[in-house]
Amino acid sequence: MLNDKTAVITGASRGIGREIALEFAKLGANLAIIDLKVDETATVESAEALGVKSKAYECNVVDFVQSKEVCGQIAKDFGSVDILVNNAGITKDGLILMMSESDFDDVINVNLKGAFNFTKHMARYLMKSKAGRIINISSVIGIAGNIGQANYSASKAGLIGLTKSTAREFAGKNITCNAIAPGFIETDMTASLPEEIVANMKNNIPLKRMGSAADVASLAAFLASDSASYITGEVIKVDGGMCI
Ligand code: NAI
Repeated sequence: MLNDKTAVITGASRGIGREIALEFAKLGANLAIIDLKVDETATVESAEALGVKSKAYECNVVDFVQSKEVCGQIAKDFGSVDILVNNAGITKDGLILMMSESDFDDVINVNLKGAFNFTKHMARYLMKSKAGRIINISSVIGIAGNIGQANYSASKAGLIGLTKSTAREFAGKNITCNAIAPGFIETDMTASLPEEIVANMKNNIPLKRMGSAADVASLAAFLASDSASYITGEVIKVDGGMCI
């Protein structure tokens, strides 16, 4: 379904990004894996075992110049780029009254500016693809807000705005841009939460369980496919009903 396509996925060493990468690889896509520290034995080797070309690139998505260089290098290495998934993200939670300036800035920079950097620098290559795809990993927290996550919520809401503007700006080039808003997903990001918070959150989810990275990856695969060619500017939740 994604045969002969090349996908660039940020923050793909672990968690949701890794799962998306491997789902794309199963469907035949070649992969450029972006992360702060790339572990060659992790996502790249697993993808290669699935028979696709895969290469890892060390890059801090916050760094505008480094992001540009890496995008150019990927285009050189793979010849073309069809799919970009802006997945890299962090949390630095705290109540607004306690939140430091750097905790606010860091989260906005990684989650929002990082996606802008890769969208901007990849756009020229995606435009050459006959059907470019950009998928931004937002969050239900960007839709509903959350106590103790003002920085994260603002970054993920900003990503929804970026998604809609990108969809409008690049529609003429047949590039679609959509956001996925996951709910409460079992990854390293949520692993450190205290048990009672996890139990409480599960209780507030109509499907009564956390989601898996695979739940998010299957939607990403659909949005990246030809079947989703008439969907753009959308925000689709994968949250077990948490934010109905
Ligand atoms: P994770 O913490 O397991 O993985 C995030 C990846 O991004 C890591 O490999 C990390 O090294 C990379 N990364 C962080 N900062 C980076 C930077 N400056 N440059 C390059 N790479 C960087 O997190 P998880 O759970 O897999 O989250 C992936 C995305 O999904 C994030 O954007 C997150 O906000 C979003 N999300 C996660 C949810 C969850 O419940 N786990 C819920 C909703 C959204």
